[in-house]
Amino acid sequence: MTRRVVRIAMNGVTGRMGYRQHLVRSILAIREQGGLDLGDGDVLWPEPVLVGRREHALKALAERHGLDPAAVSCDLDAVLADESIDVYFDAQVTSAREAAIRKAIAAGKHIYTEKPTATGLEGALELARLARDAGVKHGVVQDKLFLPGLLKLKRLIDGGFFGRILSVRGEFGYWVFEGDWQQAQRPSWNYRAEDGGGIVVDMFPHWEYVLHELFGPVRTVQAVTATHIPQRWDEQGKPYEATADDAAYGVFQLDGGIVAQINSSWAVRVNRDELVEFQVDGTEGSAVAGLRTCRVQHRSVTPKPVWNPDLPVTESFRDQWQEVPDNEEFDNGFKAQWELFLRHVALDEPYTWDLLAGARGVQLAELGLASAAEGRRLDVPELSL
Ligand SMILES: NC(=O)c1ccc[n+]([C@@H]2O[C@H](COP(=O)([O-])OP(=O)(O)OC[C@H]3O[C@@H](n4cnc5c(N)ncnc54)[C@H](O)[C@@H]3O)[C@@H](O)[C@H]2O)c1
Repeated sequence: MTRRVVRIAMNGVTGRMGYRQHLVRSILAIREQGGLDLGDGDVLWPEPVLVGRREHALKALAERHGLDPAAVSCDLDAVLADESIDVYFDAQVTSAREAAIRKAIAAGKHIYTEKPTATGLEGALELARLARDAGVKHGVVQDKLFLPGLLKLKRLIDGGFFGRILSVRGEFGYWVFEGDWQQAQRPSWNYRAEDGGGIVVDMFPHWEYVLHELFGPVRTVQAVTATHIPQRWDEQGKPYEATADDAAYGVFQLDGGIVAQINSSWAVRVNRDELVEFQVDGTEGSAVAGLRTCRVQHRSVTPKPVWNPDLPVTESFRDQWQEVPDNEEFDNGFKAQWELFLRHVALDEPYTWDLLAGARGVQLAELGLASAAEGRRLDVPELSL
């Protein structure tokens, strides 16, 4: 086996996503498994270069994980000028992303990035155009597609389980503490619109690719948003005004007539099996998929409840569903997508989750906010470069 090194500048690795999911659970995990077997006698070996704003934090990370302490930098321009760097990865706060990716494209680097790719559709489309014109490879994180629950759901769809799919109902959310008497479990910028926060900007890009890839392109959007918790406390314990939406109630019409309705909220308490669940109803059967599990009920075993509020419930509806078996081993979703992207870079294998796909997510978020502001349903035009 020959080792082929791919050097990846990773920006934002001190953050929640950058550190846990991308550095530790993806890139370092690939190294722990001995690299990525390319199947042609070569093994791809990712070498991260940690980029950020605080050198001591980056050095501490490198030390903790046995990485080269010299492979850290607070100078993005210098890193991008380094010809040995192949890929630029971005998991910074959303508002810092677009400018950094522009520079990386101009420097001829391949791009892999968290979503949303930009704070507005124009910027997101421009990134996709620039990357195309520069001839670099590009990918956007769409991790939910690689979750066991959604992979099982996709398997059901591909196997024709549902007959004609009628509707999708998604429920996402949990209680995010305000930060006064218990520390908040999400960064405070998420709750300030002026810092790129808001649940629509955060979650609609996910809903766009989940709906698009599993059920069909989104044709219209209608959303109501709310800032249910108007004051929160930041990382320093200081109160601040929450200027961004913390809940969004969206209805999406898909190509072919499927109606999807998805609630997203950071101000809801969980009475579900998982933090996100999608119920899909079709003429032949229904399914409820979460992050890991997926349960089904076929037409042939559908009970016939009769509405009668005078009587107590006589059957346990949840118990009437059947678990879909794994039938395969599922890897971490972020890592699975990184591996596909690295194969795309190394072997030119096809890769569909690119900056144009990322722009569709930004578009849906932008139209969702506009729909809420204007109080009406909006068409979602098809994007092209
Ligand atoms: N794919 C997913 O499921 C998922 C989930 C959560 C967040 N995200 C995305 O990942 C990105 C990072 O989110 P996070 O929750 O890790 O955030 P975070 O606040 O934990 O991390 C942000 C990172 O950006 C850096 N940064 C650069 N410029 C900054 C600035 N001006 N102010 C503050 N920090 C700055 C920070 O040092 C840190 O490393 C966001 O774009 C978010 O939309 C994706």
